[in-house]
Amino acid sequence: VSEDNASSQPFKRRPRYKGKNPRHFEDKYKEHDPARYADTIAKVIASGKTPAGQHLPIMVDSVLDALKLKAGQRCVDCTLGYGGHAGAFLKQLQPNGTLLGIDQDPIEIVKTNARLRTLGFPDVSLITYSRNFAQLPSIMSELGWDDGVDAIFADLGISSMQIDNPERGFSFKHNGPLDMRMNPNTGLPASELIQKTSATELAIWLHEYSDEPFANNIAQGISGQMFDTTLSLERAILKSLPNSLKHENRSLTIRRVFQAIRIQVNDEFKALDRWLSILPDCLKPGGRVAVLTFHSGEDRRVKKGFQALHRIGIFSDICETVTRPNIEECNTNPRASSAKLRWAIRA
Ligand SMILES: C[S@@+](CC[C@H](N)C(=O)[O-])C[C@H]1O[C@@H](n2cnc3c(N)ncnc32)[C@H](O)[C@@H]1O
Repeated sequence: VSEDNASSQPFKRRPRYKGKNPRHFEDKYKEHDPARYADTIAKVIASGKTPAGQHLPIMVDSVLDALKLKAGQRCVDCTLGYGGHAGAFLKQLQPNGTLLGIDQDPIEIVKTNARLRTLGFPDVSLITYSRNFAQLPSIMSELGWDDGVDAIFADLGISSMQIDNPERGFSFKHNGPLDMRMNPNTGLPASELIQKTSATELAIWLHEYSDEPFANNIAQGISGQMFDTTLSLERAILKSLPNSLKHENRSLTIRRVFQAIRIQVNDEFKALDRWLSILPDCLKPGGRVAVLTFHSGEDRRVKKGFQALHRIGIFSDICETVTRPNIEECNTNPRASSAKLRWAIRA
């Protein structure tokens, strides 16, 4: 600290954490400052974890192979997240190409926009919008891109920044307010949604979105109640399960229930269905789309949507099978394990 700063800004001690290493998201100050602590970040990644406040992009080479970007093209990353894929796209689009990055998370997109702008690409090569990707046609109209784009990408679901931050209320591993909204400025938090939803409707979500075998018991056990925190919801789910159920099956149930509620809170399938229906009008002839999905509900929709558009000749080609991450990637990033990549080409 320079003398000037020292006199104007009093020294502030970093809050102490218990034990040798920080365990809580907010205490991991080195991981939150990757530019300064690159060695810590490398160690965390080598141990198979995602550094706090970051997201490791999945199957980057396969995504690039599917999109076949060229210099000067227009590409849309509909789920900007931490910007890992976006950074790779920006590189391939140079010179004269443009990347439109969309994310409905108004908190993370500000940081990602700033981070991507330090990578050395011309300022005009990146445009970001904090919106739902279902609104892609209106964003393209605002940009005067009515003649379409060359490539569209979506990496569905939530980012590690969202799930690892207890304040966002997605996690059952760390206690936090039961929120789960990717965009906290819109819709109802999970706590209110559960309170105002009937057991019958809750059971339908659990069944349809996560194939939950105990959907009815859990829906009866949680509907109409106010759970302020993620841990209070977790406890109520566990109480609804038969005592004989094994520990690992209990954990899987918690994961599935949180997933189903998150899908409903963010109306994820409605946005995905809408996005699949507007793709053909947004792509130029020969334009390519690639999608990463993380559970069967998403993958089924993408597969059926692509097949239907292929049958009627709107897509000239679609992938025959999904591409999966290799074992090395799954080892360094276990969050990649459930990923499936599909692609299609506009006729
Ligand atoms: C898996 S992350 C993307 C990670 C990104 N590819 C990267 O390399 O960092 C998914 C992101 O999509 C955003 N998202 C999910 N559904 C969305 C939607 N319907 N509209 C806009 N953004 C969405 C989430 O807020 C989250 O930031």
